[in-house]
Amino acid sequence: ELGSYSHFMQKEIHEQPKALADTIEPILEEGFSPALFGAAAAEVLPKVEGVLILACGTSYYAGMVARHWIESIAKLPCQIEIASEYRYSETFAKPNWLVVTISQSGETLDTMEALKFAFSLGHDKSLSICNVRESALPRASNLVFYTRAGAEIGVASTKAFTTQLVALFALAATLAKLKGQLSVDQEKQHLDALRLIPGSVQHALNLEPQIKLWAERFYSKHHALFLGRVLHYPIALEGALKLKEISYIHAEAYPAGELKHGPLALVDQDMPIVVIAPNDALLEKLKSNMQEVRARGGELFVFTDLDSHFTESEGVNVIRTPRHAGVLSPIVHAIPVQLLAYHTALQRGTDVDKPRNLAKSVTVE
Ligand code: M6R
Repeated sequence: ELGSYSHFMQKEIHEQPKALADTIEPILEEGFSPALFGAAAAEVLPKVEGVLILACGTSYYAGMVARHWIESIAKLPCQIEIASEYRYSETFAKPNWLVVTISQSGETLDTMEALKFAFSLGHDKSLSICNVRESALPRASNLVFYTRAGAEIGVASTKAFTTQLVALFALAATLAKLKGQLSVDQEKQHLDALRLIPGSVQHALNLEPQIKLWAERFYSKHHALFLGRVLHYPIALEGALKLKEISYIHAEAYPAGELKHGPLALVDQDMPIVVIAPNDALLEKLKSNMQEVRARGGELFVFTDLDSHFTESEGVNVIRTPRHAGVLSPIVHAIPVQLLAYHTALQRGTDVDKPRNLAKSVTVE
């Protein structure tokens, strides 16, 4: 089953252009239509006044990106909660809010219990974004969007994450359209942008040899810091989680503006700092955050886009992903952090597909 690959994780990272194209296909056919989310969606989605997202781990990070999309594109309020926390919180139902669970396996107990808790509070509309057909979460939900990533075997989630992002983007744009927030032109632009994603992801995959060289410098480190802002802060979190999970290097992610409120104290020449720095409106801000780090001796490993003005210098290493993908940029920037974690783990000789202490599907509390 592995073909020419050494690990399922490597295979699954490389399957992303196809997994994404397969997931995008029905969206290109239907446009941003409730039909994408199941038979009941035409009735349910137009009444939605807000979105509550429940998920764990990597799926939670996909939800963090989605919160920005739902608020900026659909102009609807969106709240996101870690499923295992939400189920024990003292909270209340928000009338006409859609509860969205995100889960690769569809069997994660914490997410299932959080959904049941939401129902017990009085929520009655739910959408499952899931990769496994007929698993527990889609069965318990009114609406469903199946990501078409194919079986994901490696414990570290990769292609499930990027396809979840596509599903969530389609949700944001569909809600926007239903709320009269999306013009015909904007819809076309978003669909065109989605169409380009598999190709951009393939370009990002082609960076593997360069990323491997970085991994050779990373593997002997004890700690790493990942920085990003807004849409790319969840990608920093995802990069740190991937690195911890499979290479056992302690990694933390911060929104870059938070550095000076504490974590800057950690920075010295032994601390590599990975920066997700796409060519967006925040790039200049991010550059000044990077200077703060450089001034303390931290070595920077920057992922930016082809079209950004960035120069390598002493202690500042730069890898360029394809042209900036606009609001879909988090999908493209997820790839290099997956590859960095994978190659660092290889160097360390860990069991990449089955990291210690972890299970693929977490069906216990
Ligand atoms: O199957 P799910 O998406 O519900 O799983 C949620 C998390 O357990 C999962 O994403 C976990 O964090 C991954 N191992 C991360 O790579």
